[in-house]
Amino acid sequence: MNKNITSHEFVITKKQRNKINNHTSFVIWFTGLSGAGKSTIANALENKLNDNSIHTYLLDGDNIRQGLNVDLTFSQEDRSENIRRIAEVSSLLIDAGLVVLSAFVSPYRKDRMMVKSKVKDINFIEIFVDTPLEECIRRDTKGLYGKAKKGLIKNLTGINAPYERPENPNLRIDTTKYTVDEAVKMILNTIETKLEKSII
Ligand code: ADX
Repeated sequence: MNKNITSHEFVITKKQRNKINNHTSFVIWFTGLSGAGKSTIANALENKLNDNSIHTYLLDGDNIRQGLNVDLTFSQEDRSENIRRIAEVSSLLIDAGLVVLSAFVSPYRKDRMMVKSKVKDINFIEIFVDTPLEECIRRDTKGLYGKAKKGLIKNLTGINAPYERPENPNLRIDTTKYTVDEAVKMILNTIETKLEKSII
């Protein structure tokens, strides 16, 4: 950190923004393999939250990697940098009063723990979208697993790069057992008390 930089205290705080919005703000962090259904569930959840006047913002790996993080590869170092930047952005958006939905493969436990410590434990809900690899390969929505099989992709998570399963997520969803609507309901149940607003 540059020693010539000092922090400013802002007059308007998260607490005041939460009061105006009539709900608290935190991050709902979706982790899981590519094609597990993170973005699908996050989108459906965001829709439901917006129906209930909850102020949200969705951050998604595929989109962020075309803008803010366009310079990053899928090496371990770059994935960590990807998640570090998203932790910072999530933290700002939480401060801005939003319920942030972050959908990233985020395969490394230490990176997810870094997010948790950046935004503070109380502001971090971890959702493990636990779709078995065989099912992701079967769906292959983006054609990535097929490419990996042909040797065209080198470090695809689950195939030739690791995925470290969360040990103690707030919620684990096996998408072969639940529909998207059911998954959304499970998440709403998990976050309702934290939101301090009735939505169910
Ligand atoms: S992360 O590992 O750094 O968290 P992130 O969520 O940003 O990944 O991006 C994952 C998305 O990038 C996947 O959903 C997939 O569409 C695409 N992708 C391209 N190459 C890879 C790869 N080698 N491993 C995982 N995802 C990849």
